[in-house]
Amino acid sequence: MSVRHFLSMMDYTPDELVGLIRRAIELKDLRNRGVLFEPLKNRVLGMIFEKASTRTRLSFEAGMIQLGGQAIFLSPRDTQLGRGEPIGDAAIVMSSMLDAVMIRTFAHSNLTEFAAKSKVPVINGLSDDLHPCQLLADMQTFLEHRGSIAGKTVAWIGDGNNMCNSYIEAAIQFDFQLKVACPEGYEPDARFLALAGDRVQVLRDPREAVAGAHLVSTDVWASMGQEDEAEQRMALFRPYQVTPALLDNAAPDVLFMHCLPAHRGEEISLDMLDDPRSVAWAQAENRLHAQKALLELLVEPAYHHA
Ligand code: CP
Ligand code: NVA
Repeated sequence: MSVRHFLSMMDYTPDELVGLIRRAIELKDLRNRGVLFEPLKNRVLGMIFEKASTRTRLSFEAGMIQLGGQAIFLSPRDTQLGRGEPIGDAAIVMSSMLDAVMIRTFAHSNLTEFAAKSKVPVINGLSDDLHPCQLLADMQTFLEHRGSIAGKTVAWIGDGNNMCNSYIEAAIQFDFQLKVACPEGYEPDARFLALAGDRVQVLRDPREAVAGAHLVSTDVWASMGQEDEAEQRMALFRPYQVTPALLDNAAPDVLFMHCLPAHRGEEISLDMLDDPRSVAWAQAENRLHAQKALLELLVEPAYHHA
């Protein structure tokens, strides 16, 4: 039997994705009501982090514990992966001991190589190409605040990076229009644009992209791994800062999201996260609930007693 992974938003049908998000809202409610729900007792998630993380690590680790299981944090510094053990070999061994593996890495091919040899589900906790777990949380947050996102307009302002690529996939799967405003040369990957067809428009002017939008989202101007380019990017991206004044051009009920960590004074103004239209904190919390729904779906439930 071939195992199911979550490497991209395209790995699931639109109905499955909406179902996942609805389940996330139910799991959030269970937790808010203090109901113990431990279907993953004795199950273990391995988490390989080749890049830094606050939210992804915490939400997966806390999520597994809350579901009755456990999570193990692994970094290249203290595993043989950092000393050149082939990814496929690591996948065979790790997946013989674990019930699921979450990986945050650089090249997306590291994820697909691992998944190809893994006996257990592999979850993309961010690659240079995509950040699908964040999109589950973002879509949940929109649904909770405004209802279905189908037919709405979303503006992505800034770098055409991994988050932007995942927004393109979400536009296809959740049926919304996406307007990307980015500097020349920083467009999202052509493969994702081709997949989306006329669902996605690439523009230069952030005001044009934001006009009438129901959701505006942005991210850092230099992603992890691009530290050397940071200075050059700062100057180029300056006109793309998201401010409350920019949001005034959007729909009156617009929401603002940022996957965090944020750099106030760069991609957002100092006051952007304090604006009543910002839902960034709810969005961050929803990483926990959305990923618990994902883990519940992907990881086999508790063992039987002998
Ligand atoms: N948004 C997000 O993935 O945050 P971390 O880098 O802290 O995990
Ligand atoms: N685009 C950012 C997202 C961080 C959550 C990065 O890849 O560093």
